Amino acid sequence: MSKMGIFVGTAGGTSMKVADALVEAFDIDENDVINMEDDFDDVDQLLEYDVLFIGSSTWGQGDVHFSWVDTVLEIEDDEIDFGGKKVAFFGAGDSKKHGEHFCSALGKLYKTFTKAGAKAIGAIPKEGYTYEFSLAQKGDKLVGCAIDEHNESDKTPQRIEMWIEKLKNEL
Ligand SMILES: Cc1cc2nc3c(=O)[nH]c(=O)nc-3n(C[C@H](O)[C@H](O)[C@H](O)COP(=O)(O)O)c2cc1C
Repeated sequence: MSKMGIFVGTAGGTSMKVADALVEAFDIDENDVINMEDDFDDVDQLLEYDVLFIGSSTWGQGDVHFSWVDTVLEIEDDEIDFGGKKVAFFGAGDSKKHGEHFCSALGKLYKTFTKAGAKAIGAIPKEGYTYEFSLAQKGDKLVGCAIDEHNESDKTPQRIEMWIEKLKNEL
């Protein structure tokens, strides 16, 4: 069976809403839920898994949560090989106050991991989202599950549920 891990960078825990749903849906052990700020040691930890659920809220001008910054650089600079792995992306943002870069962290992480050879899964239609710009958008899709608890918390349960159904079909 594929080994599944969740790696999440979060400031206030909002992105954990998605992580918690993944734990339940895929019966993931709590030891395989890695908070990037508290539990992450090095890139080898990521390489232990066949399926990676990669989460980050978005900061600054569309940046990943700070806990991801060094790891993203290491994966890119050291050309770490994620070939054969499936990767799905999620995270929280704010489509009104930061609609110029809504959930762009997902797009940045998508770029890093797919360049490193991983197969991205779990893209969702961007229908129902309103924002100016996002690096997470590819064509008429978002690369993963973006949630906005500031403005659209009513849509979050459905967004997560739909994404998880999609993942089940792609795994
Ligand atoms: C200084 C600052 C910058 C932010 N920049 C962005 C941004 O570029 N894009 C976005 O979608 N959200 C942005 N946000 C909103 C956060 O991503 C949002 O509050 C999110 O829910 C935090 O999730 P977390 O608790 O998982 O860290 C920003 C928030 C702050 C305070």
